[in-house]
Amino acid sequence: MDTSEIRNSKFKIRNPDSPIGIFDSGVGGLTVFRAIEQRLPNESLIYLGDTARIPYGVRSPATIERYALECATFVQSRGVKAIVIACNTASALAANYLRSQFELPITGVIRPGSRRAVEKTRNGHIGVIATEATVGSGAYERAMLAIRSGLEITSRACPLFVPLAEEGWLNHPVTRQVAEEYLAELRSSRVDTLVLGCTHYPILRPVIEQTMGDHISYVDSGEAVADEIAKLLEERGLIRRDEQPRVEEFYVTDSAERFRRVAELFLGRPLESVVTVKLGTV
Ligand code: DGL
Repeated sequence: MDTSEIRNSKFKIRNPDSPIGIFDSGVGGLTVFRAIEQRLPNESLIYLGDTARIPYGVRSPATIERYALECATFVQSRGVKAIVIACNTASALAANYLRSQFELPITGVIRPGSRRAVEKTRNGHIGVIATEATVGSGAYERAMLAIRSGLEITSRACPLFVPLAEEGWLNHPVTRQVAEEYLAELRSSRVDTLVLGCTHYPILRPVIEQTMGDHISYVDSGEAVADEIAKLLEERGLIRRDEQPRVEEFYVTDSAERFRRVAELFLGRPLESVVTVKLGTV
């Protein structure tokens, strides 16, 4: 696919009845899909999971930018009116780049999640758990400190949470043990608010909460981004008006059957169809 050709084509006039495009490196962005579906139940949604190239969280910034560009180009080619980057890693490393490349409204998960965390904290000490790439980018620290200076922010990469969530090991002894190991330092810190800074993590929230305790406020960036996209569509007159039933489409770059199986865990319902597509050099 020639990405520049599609980016520069005629998608500038946006139709409120067009779908919202959502993409992630895999199945994790379905936590964002679910939140948007609940917040905006009349909207048509298109979801792309780049399952052939997951995980993004261990890759270099240049590779993450390229993958994100190819995902955004694909969802744009489906005629969407806005794009949600339902992946913290791609939001942290590629959101500004994508905004410079497309004329569509584009929302990532970092800013909405950061705003919510700053609203919730009482003692000014916020924890962030995320992929290595997101933690390494410092994107959450920058976004939160831009909202309020003087916050104390403790970040921890939890890379094994992604395969555990993809495996569907939501309440498995191995997941509990991994959580104990990753979260020990955060648990003994003064953190009163914890950002689940990876779209896979909300599905592991019961184990994370058991490990960290119930005195902590949790921030699920999916819920925060759903509010953000609703506001953005309202401001731009892009809320769907069509009274026909909404449409939903699911695309992956590999292993459609596996995606469908794990997606049921994330969405709590079966998917009608999942189509495999080819992006860039996949
Ligand atoms: N869903 C991605 C995120 O939110 C994590 C998975 C990955 O590493 O690709 O960062």
